[in-house]
Parts: sequence; C-alpha cells; structure tokens
Amino acid sequence: MAAALIAPPKIRQTNMLIGGKWQESRSGKRFKSINPVNEQVIAEVPEGSEADVDAAVKAARKAFESGPWHTMDARDRGRLMNKLADLMEANLNELAALETLDNGKPISDARGADLPLAIDCLRYYAGWADKLTGDTIPIRGNYFCYTRREPVGVAGQIIPWNFPILMAAWKWGPALAAGCTIVMKPAEQTPLTCLRMAELAQEAGIPDGVINVVTGYGDTGAAIVRHPGVDKIAFTGHYETAQKIMVDAARTLKRITFELGGKSPNVVFADADLDAAVAGAEFGLFFNQGQCCCAGSRLFVEQSIYDQFVEKVVARAKTRQLGDPFDPKTTQGPQVDSDQFNKILGYIDKGKSEGAECLTGGARFGDKGYFIQPTVFGNVTDEMSIAKDEIFGPVMSILPFKNADEIIERANSTYYGLAAAVWTRDVVKAHQFAAKVRAGTVWVNCYDVFDAAAPFGGFKFSGMGRELGEIALSNYTESKTVTMSLS
Ligand code: NAI
Ligand code: MG
Repeated sequence: MAAALIAPPKIRQTNMLIGGKWQESRSGKRFKSINPVNEQVIAEVPEGSEADVDAAVKAARKAFESGPWHTMDARDRGRLMNKLADLMEANLNELAALETLDNGKPISDARGADLPLAIDCLRYYAGWADKLTGDTIPIRGNYFCYTRREPVGVAGQIIPWNFPILMAAWKWGPALAAGCTIVMKPAEQTPLTCLRMAELAQEAGIPDGVINVVTGYGDTGAAIVRHPGVDKIAFTGHYETAQKIMVDAARTLKRITFELGGKSPNVVFADADLDAAVAGAEFGLFFNQGQCCCAGSRLFVEQSIYDQFVEKVVARAKTRQLGDPFDPKTTQGPQVDSDQFNKILGYIDKGKSEGAECLTGGARFGDKGYFIQPTVFGNVTDEMSIAKDEIFGPVMSILPFKNADEIIERANSTYYGLAAAVWTRDVVKAHQFAAKVRAGTVWVNCYDVFDAAAPFGGFKFSGMGRELGEIALSNYTESKTVTMSLS
C-alpha cells in the first residue's frame, strides 16, 4: 500500500513585515511564488520597492536606536530567542510543509534536517546573548583600559532559496544575540517560510522593528545594500551577486560577510571504507537536489578502485526516489525553478558534448515540474565545464586520480574554496589533506556534517567571514576600547 502523502499546509501570511505591521508593497506590486512540482502559482507576495526598503530600514533603525533590543537585559534577549525556537518546534510540521511547498524539497528532509538545524541554531545563539564580554587590558601608564562589544547596528540580510528557513536562522541567530536589528530579504523563489518565521517572532514577543522582512527580487536586495541606514550586509548566494553587492556597499562602507558557492572536492583514496565513501559521495552531492553550496561536486576517486567505486555509486544513484515531495518516501524533489532547471540541463548537455561519460540519468524526469534525473558523469577531466562551474543540481562528476602526490594541486585548482572531504583509513594522509586543501570546511570520512557551534564559510570566491559558531558573532559586533585615567 502506498504511504499517505503529508497534506500541504495552509498559507497564513502573504504580506511583508515592516515595523511590526504586515503590509502590501507601497508600489502595489506583487509577484508569484511558483510550485516547482507542477509549475502552478502557490501565492503572491509583495514586491518590495525602494520606499518599502526605506520604511523597513527606518523601523529597524528606530528599534535599534531607541527600541528595547540591545538595551534590554541580554538574558531577556536570549529568552525571547529561545521562545522563537520553541514556537518553531511547536509548529515544526507546518513550517516543514510550507518549506516543501515553496521549495520542493522532500518533506522528510524539511522535517528531519532543515527544521531541527534551524531551531538548534537559534537556541545556540540565544545562549550567546548574555555572554558577549570584552577584555580588560593592561596598558602602559596609570589607566584602566577595557573593551566593550557592541552591536553593529542595522543588519541587511539577503538569503537564497535552497535552505530558506535554515538560512534565515543562520542570519537571525548571531544578529539578534548581538543586539542588532534586521532587514531581511528572502529569495524571490521561496518567500513564504521567512514570513511565517517572522510571524512566530512576533508571537514570541520580539519587539516591533527588530525583525523586518521585505520580499522581492534582486532589486529589492540592492536597495537594502545601497541604503545609508544599513550598517552591515550579510549575503548568501552567487559570487557574481556578491561582486555587485561589494560595489554597491562600498559607497557607504558597510561591513560585509558573504557565504557563496563552491566546487568542493570529495576525495576517495583506495584505502577508504568503500561503502561508507559511496554513501557519503551520494549524500554529499544529491542531498537537497544537489542545491548545496558545499556539494561534493568534484568526486576524485583513486585509479585503483575507480571501476569498483563507479559501479557502486551509479547503482546507489539509481535508487533515489523521485516524486511528490509530500510523500515521506521521496528522497529527491524538483529543482527550485525553471532557471535552475534549464541551467542544470545545459550543464548536462555540456558534459556530454565535452566528452564525459554519462553513466546514468542525463535528462529531465517526467514531463511536468522541474525534476531532473540523478545524473552521474564518469571520466571527467579538470578542464571540462562540469568540473569547473557550480552546477547546483543532481549532477555528479567523477574524476579519476593517480595518487596522493597529485591530488592537492588538483583539489585546489578552482577559484572556489568552501568545503572539501577526504575518505581514507590513513590518519596521516587525512591530516595532510586537511592542512593543505584551501577550503573553509574539511570533512574526513563524513560529509555535510553541520552544527550551529562549528564555523562555516569559504576561502577565495566562496566567501568572506564565517557563519555559525562563536566567530559569527564578530560579524555583528563592533569592538570599542575605553581608556580611563586613574590619576
Ligand atoms: P543570487 O545570488 O542571484 O540570489 C541570492 C539572493 O540574492 C536572492 O535573495 C536574490 O534576490 C538576491 N539578489 C540578487 N541580485 C541582487 C543584487 N544585485 N543585490 C542584492 N541582492 C540580490 O542567486 P540565484 O540567481 O538564485 O542563483 C544563481 C546561482 O547562484 C545558482 O545556480 C547557484 O550556482 C548559486 N547559488 C548559491 C547559493 C549558496 O548557497 N551559496 C544559494 C543560491 C544560489
Ligand atoms: Mg540571480
């Protein structure tokens, strides 16, 4: 008997939140959020204009300057953040279903990964709210010198569509703990869960103006970046967008942190636990329909086990369950939108025409929605487009390698540097790889292990600064040195 489908949720909020009020755009314009399963309209939300952004920034400034957020007892700030996490937990099934509806990701992933990680992240940073201490510094002379850590001010936060709830939590957590106020723009493809989270933040008692959400396209994001009332921009998305943001932010010298894409090497040595490596390779690439900044999209396999490994990984790719993301058994849903769908199919064509061996998949799945077959290319070489560019889809590229001597140079021959992984039973080889690979995160005999306490971010084109962990609090704080004469 087929398992019952999880029911799609009721959509409760399709306006945006500015200064505690749910509003239409001042331009009156709305845009459509599309269901990637059937290409039908799910909801229409306001297209935030420059005037809306201005209103949101003013609300955030007011809540920062005169509002009760950073001046409130830090323990109370932490308590309200915990309350938000509790409300998200209480509404976990509804939030997960809304995420699945808007993004297309399997309900079991939304419930089992996105939501628990987001809730954990908010709780982790709630714990930091009353632990932001400075130093006392022994300086020359008769002085008392100390530092204070103060919130940077109004944070503009622009997030993508691949993990809408989780990306909001990664950005809200450290900003709120530090005492900043927020103007967030969710991605145009997936605005709904961010709006629902903002409703829950209101319900938790987070004061008006502390979290503002303006929905819209890239232009709305650009208006946040240009606004002189915003002190800091945190962005996750494509590096070309980050380049534009850097230029736009320069005029007002905003602090910026970026979490961008990747072309992460996943390296399997011949001495690895083969089945574990195969499972890790599959999960590390296909998880979330391949729409992960840290996807292990260059799978290097040592020549002596190449044939055996390829056979196993192709067999595993074929077991992926494509279908309705509201079916708990589904492990792969559609890509998020038609742009991504076409981009990925374009790379599959390039892989074929540039001479890679298509071992399974290689086309769309079905004839409705943005589904793509799990695709595996073998005998990929470093120069092929599919080995160089971020595909952001369910397309695995396997590159044979000879030995440990050549692998570091090849792993590092990319302008990205987000993540890397190595599979081996030899600890020396593992540590050497971890030390030499140019990436912000290295997984050894595992993949995609995330924790709110462990920093994440990129070298080179993969980003600037780190999210998660204690280090992310520095994205949202200024250090102030106070020196007092004791004579
Ligand atoms: P994008 O970088 O254009 O969009 C991300 C966010 O930035 C969205 O909220 C968007 O509205 C906003 N944005 C766009 N232009 C802006 C501007 N000029 N100023 C301020 N905000 C702006 O990414 P997109 O177009 O959704 O995807 C393109 C590619 O980017 C993907 O195929 C993938 O390769 C990569 N990507 C990487 C992500 C990551 O997690 N690092 C997430 C999403 C996409
Ligand atoms: Mg774009």
